[in-house]
Amino acid sequence: MDIGKVISTQNGPSPSFFAFVISKSKRVSKDQFVRVNTEEGLMIAMVENVIKTNRYYANPETVVESDNLEQLFQVDEWEFLVAEAIPLGVISGNLTVRPTIPPSPGDVVEVVSEDVLSNFLGFNNTGLNIGDVIHHNVPVLLGLGKTFQKHLAILAMSGAGKSYLTSVLIEEVLSRSKKDGRVASVIFDVHGEYAGFAEKPPKKFKNFSDKVNSVIKIKIPVPELSAREISVFTTLTHVQIAELDKIIRELNGQIYDFKDLVSEVSSRSVPPKTKAALVRWLNGLHATGLFSSTEDLITKRPGEKEEHHKLIDLIKPGYMTVFDLSENIQKRVRDLIVLWLSRELFKLRRFEKIPPLVMFVEEAHNFIPEGASQADTPTLGIFQTIAREGRKFLCSLVIISQRPIKLSTTVLSQCNTHIIMRITNPYDLNHIGQSSEGVTNNTLKSLTSLQVGEALVVGEAVRYPVFLKVRERVSWEKKSSNMELQAIEFEAKSIKDEKIINDAKDAFL
Ligand SMILES: Nc1ncnc2c1ncn2[C@@H]1O[C@H](COP(=O)(O)OP(=O)(O)OP(=O)(O)O)[C@@H](O)[C@H]1O
Ligand SMILES: [Mg+2]
Repeated sequence: MDIGKVISTQNGPSPSFFAFVISKSKRVSKDQFVRVNTEEGLMIAMVENVIKTNRYYANPETVVESDNLEQLFQVDEWEFLVAEAIPLGVISGNLTVRPTIPPSPGDVVEVVSEDVLSNFLGFNNTGLNIGDVIHHNVPVLLGLGKTFQKHLAILAMSGAGKSYLTSVLIEEVLSRSKKDGRVASVIFDVHGEYAGFAEKPPKKFKNFSDKVNSVIKIKIPVPELSAREISVFTTLTHVQIAELDKIIRELNGQIYDFKDLVSEVSSRSVPPKTKAALVRWLNGLHATGLFSSTEDLITKRPGEKEEHHKLIDLIKPGYMTVFDLSENIQKRVRDLIVLWLSRELFKLRRFEKIPPLVMFVEEAHNFIPEGASQADTPTLGIFQTIAREGRKFLCSLVIISQRPIKLSTTVLSQCNTHIIMRITNPYDLNHIGQSSEGVTNNTLKSLTSLQVGEALVVGEAVRYPVFLKVRERVSWEKKSSNMELQAIEFEAKSIKDEKIINDAKDAFL
């Protein structure tokens, strides 16, 4: 369908810019893809701006001086819409090449058909369907390897739809068939938003509960920790590590917790200062209630009994494990859990004891902050290691954060695909401009006006930056963060509770 014609302007047409006048009654929107035939092949361009012009109103003096322009001339007929477009590539045979020749003034500009656009953007049928390209009926199908292997970052201000999009991604990962390649996934769920995946949902939602386990309690096995590993959970000096190492080596093969280790340290000839410090640190770790003599991960579904597992048994292709951290409000405890899990998972993956793994990290700025010390944030080191080395071992990170500026730049720079949703904070925008390849100043401006559920994908997973509308989720969004709804539900529940009490009273009286 033809929508306009290329015009000659001061800046173009050139291989990197052209403007076209939009045909009367045709609609063209900012961020829409268009096509035009050039000598090199089929040029695909993105509309970066749409401007209204009218020669009668071009000159301020004329507009001010003659207040009856509208009566004198058919001014309406001289109003035109001009679109400014940025050529992205030229399809020439099976290849897509960089444009080097401009279209000619007068060339017809057309709508890009769905299949041409889908091919141009590099989508394929087995990709993860996260929504539709904005202004086009083209599903955004991100290749599994391209999206995850070199890590993914999902960045946006609070309430923009990061967790919703993450749930859509999880649905796609869980719905993959064996022949298309299935990965295992885990999510560090700070607010308990994803535990709903492990429950049977109300009828109208898709049930994923047979593929999802929600871990509600974790016991870290002390006998599996070396002195150096223990020192990651707390702050031990070299001398303390060396003393502890001697004792742990002697205990090899025995079953013990930190309380037992404290008894061992107390009963041995260790320099008094070192002994006192070790006893204090080990007692501190014991008091967190997180450590035990054996590994134990406890899962639970509503109405069912608790189940006990080992980490390795939960990580299976096509399955997801939700680590529900919402009960652990103490930062230190949460950090230690995430530290142990991420280290163990990476270790298991390095030795190929578990399938290729995607680790979703919600509220990632808490675990991977920029400028923090290892002592303050013990999780920092392991995530930096996974960010650097994970791609070799097929252990991928999905970093989800509402404060990009607070995220470790080391980790963010290793994320080769970024999905960015609405962001208005100028510092965060600036940071994204610097850390996301392919984000132009104009694209940055667009980020401030995105609606909830709209996103920009840039990087490895797409050939060109693309704006999309996230698709509707089919899973059950259990927790509502909507204040109005929660307030209504709260009052309705209070009334119901009151009625039950009154009915009970009536029954007794
Ligand atoms: N694509 C979408 N379609 C429909 N509703 C959406 C969509 N994205 C988000 N929402 C709704 O908007 C609200 C906020 O979304 P969400 O919780 O995903 O935001 P967030 O970016 O994760 O925020 P926070 O940083 O506070 O965690 C939710 O009620 C969610 O249901
Ligand atoms: Mg969220």
